[in-house]
Amino acid sequence: MAPASGTHPLDPLSKDEIGEAGAILRAGGRISDAARFVSIALKEPPKAAVQTFPDGPAPDREAFVVLREPRQRATYEAVVSLTRGTVAVWRHVPDAQPALTEAEFLACEEAVRADPRWQAALRRRGVVDFSLTVVDSWTVGCEGPADERRGRRLVHALTFVRTGPHDNPYARPVEGLRALVDLDGMAVLDVTDEGGPPLPPYAGNYATGLIARDDNWTAVTGPGPALRPIAITQPEGPSFTVDGHAVSWYKWRLRLGFTPREGLVLHRVGFVDAGRERPVLYRASLSEIFTPYADPGLVHRHKAAFDEGEYGAGFVVNSLEPGCDCLGEIRYLDVDVHDDHGAPVTLPRAICLHEEDVGVGWKHTDLRTGEVETRRQRRLVVSSFAVLGNYQYGYFWHFYLDGTIEFQVKLTGMVSTGAAGPDTAPRFGTLLAPGLYAPNHQHFFNVRLDMSVDGEKNAVHEVDAERLPPGEDNPEGGAWIARRTLLASETAAQRLACPATGRFWLITNPTVRNRLGEPVAYKLVPGTTALPQVHQGSSAHRRAAFAFKHLWVTAYDPGQLFAAGDYPNQHPGDGLPVYAAADRPLDGADLVVWYTFGDHHVVRPEDWPVMPVTTVGFQLKPFGFFDGNPALDVPPPRTHCSEGERRGSTQ
Ligand code: NI
Repeated sequence: MAPASGTHPLDPLSKDEIGEAGAILRAGGRISDAARFVSIALKEPPKAAVQTFPDGPAPDREAFVVLREPRQRATYEAVVSLTRGTVAVWRHVPDAQPALTEAEFLACEEAVRADPRWQAALRRRGVVDFSLTVVDSWTVGCEGPADERRGRRLVHALTFVRTGPHDNPYARPVEGLRALVDLDGMAVLDVTDEGGPPLPPYAGNYATGLIARDDNWTAVTGPGPALRPIAITQPEGPSFTVDGHAVSWYKWRLRLGFTPREGLVLHRVGFVDAGRERPVLYRASLSEIFTPYADPGLVHRHKAAFDEGEYGAGFVVNSLEPGCDCLGEIRYLDVDVHDDHGAPVTLPRAICLHEEDVGVGWKHTDLRTGEVETRRQRRLVVSSFAVLGNYQYGYFWHFYLDGTIEFQVKLTGMVSTGAAGPDTAPRFGTLLAPGLYAPNHQHFFNVRLDMSVDGEKNAVHEVDAERLPPGEDNPEGGAWIARRTLLASETAAQRLACPATGRFWLITNPTVRNRLGEPVAYKLVPGTTALPQVHQGSSAHRRAAFAFKHLWVTAYDPGQLFAAGDYPNQHPGDGLPVYAAADRPLDGADLVVWYTFGDHHVVRPEDWPVMPVTTVGFQLKPFGFFDGNPALDVPPPRTHCSEGERRGSTQ
């Protein structure tokens, strides 16, 4: 099938291409009727082919496909050439457990509900209407390379009981009950029932119409005071344009991508400076999420989710609603994913683009003349929202007029819960309502930044404040310098943030100088910094080693995309420590920056029954990339404040 005219080599697979990939594989006779399509995504062409496009030849359109054959208990990878209609690569991946599919997740719930041992356990707790139960699959982890369970596709199934069909399921967790399910055979292998505290008594609802119910644990009894409308109007439309997957806003240029595993992907982010588009990022995406829980109880001790590699962040994006998720002049992009059979599925309005005014961008008042110059700041927002079980993660990329790039994750939804029993103070978490608690936990987000600061030859320097000793050249003891240390190789480039020295990292291009003669650079400004609190030496530590360093830098390798490896599910440990083991040199290399930020979540009572958004993230800011303030030429606001307004009436 020839690609549609106008297709860019980095455009995500279209609906037709997804269907075609499945059809080519089936026609080749390699796969069974029972095969589950875990992932069908664009196999991105080599950088050189992308960078010469459209002057050079268009590279073949290829799909990278991951399949699970449940009868064989085997995982396969394929590269399908859509241009040639052939299977270019077909291989078995030993010991690989790919991400759970949505169909597996739902089938597991049905299998558990039909199990007599599980039914008996619920009857012992007084639950007879099993239609009110919710059964969530949680991955089981891995004890090490010798873990005998690795060949079986296992999950722990945890149970919750609603009081009505629309109630919050997470308000009434069943403590002390865990089922072990083999997803290949969709068979319940074991049901463990240790007994435990009773179901918490309150419904924990959050939806209008349910919150005022008298069996709900909340002080809310009805709607709050009325709020008057805020209307965002852009009578001339937004200042950005979308052409296919290419976005242009102010001086920013970027391409939007999407994969079932990562969700939103940004390609080829650049800034037009004096008429020339200067690259900053070749590719940026969320590479992994790690969410470990602190409670050693039966149903909680294995909760250490790799939300992306074990569940997939792209399949679960919301269809966004104007006026709810975003305000203003909005442009949406649909995305195409697929079902377990490889059939295309469109997720409408999955990516939102809009502009936001974010207050003052820069300002100065001349004390003596009273003249005021003020410019507004605004940003382009590219966002999506994913549902990962109880949690919702909003992913927000921001581009600012002053050359800053920001990535934020907004965490909301339900905290993961446990039953505490009456008059019990939970040791490993926070009481939320009578008999209900939430374990301490953490969320780590690793972003893979394939940097391209004015080209592919980059280097990373760590910058720390360093106090100088008092002496002749420091008579008042106030002298300090910004010490730059080159991170010359992959072993040296595994770093922690250090708020005490104001540490940051500079991604420079040693071959391109600014007008002051310095290498052009972007600065990575670290966000929040707690480390995983899992024991060093535990299996979770080996599996999530990436999260124990805030920053890693590796030499570019198109096969190294995920901080915890390609298949973290039931894997003893992969990803960044393996990638960096080669200790490749980084000075002047095509390099990839991996940055981890997190939310250290000691749950608050206010996080119940639904969490107010918590925002975590980081920024990339130009540092000598420009020869001065790149927002100097932002047009003044069309009001009197730009006209050299006199200060007050007293002058
Ligand atoms: Ni949390």
